[in-house]
Amino acid sequence: MRGCFHVYPENMERIVFTEDDISRRVRELGNEVAAGLAQEKGGAIAVITIMKGGFVFLADLIRNIDLELTVDFMAISSYLGSKPSSDGVRIVKDLSESIYGRDVLVVEDIIDTGLTLSYILRNLKERGSRDLKICTLLDRSGRRIAPLHIDYRGFEVGEEFLVGYGLDHHQKWRNLPFICSLKDTRPGE
Ligand code: PRP
Repeated sequence: MRGCFHVYPENMERIVFTEDDISRRVRELGNEVAAGLAQEKGGAIAVITIMKGGFVFLADLIRNIDLELTVDFMAISSYLGSKPSSDGVRIVKDLSESIYGRDVLVVEDIIDTGLTLSYILRNLKERGSRDLKICTLLDRSGRRIAPLHIDYRGFEVGEEFLVGYGLDHHQKWRNLPFICSLKDTRPGE
C-alpha cells in the first residue's frame, strides 16, 4: 500500500483493488492501447471521457499512452435511476473540439448496463469519427443491457457497489486512491 488514507467510508466492506493493483493494470492498459492504436493511427487520437467518474483513470491512463493525443470531456444528464432511453438523455457538457475523421478512444471508469456508452457511441459516430475504441477500467458485464464490444478492459467486477479512484456514492469518495466496496449498497441504487 503506497498512500496512507485516514478517511474511509463508514460502511466500507473491503478493498477490492489496491493503489498498486490499479497502477500496475493502468500501466499495462496504456501499453496495450498504444500498441493497438499505433497500427491504425492517422493523426492525434481524440481521448474522450464521460464526466465525472472517468477523470481519475483518464489522468493516469494518458500518461501511459505513448502516442500523440488530445483530451476532451462530455457530460450527459443522469438517468435518475430509471431505465434510460436515448430520448431521455441530454448532453450537458459537449466536446470542445471536432472529432470528424478522427480516431477516438472513449475512456470510462466503469461500464455497467452499457446504456450510457451506447448512447455516447451513437452520438460520436454521428459526428463522423473515423474509428471508435472503448477502454474501461472496470467492467460489470453481468448487468449489461446494451451489448458493447470493449476493446480494452482493466478488471471484471461483480455485484458489489464500488467507490474510489473516480467512482462515487452520492458524489463522495472519488478521491480514494484505491477501490473499495460498500456494505448494504447495491449497483443501480
Ligand atoms: C457511471 C460511469 C458510467 C456509467 C456506466 O457514471 O462513469 O458513465 O455510470 O453505467 P451504465 O453502463 O449502466 O450506463 P454515473 O452515472 O455514476 O455518473 P458519474 O460518472 O458522475 O459518477
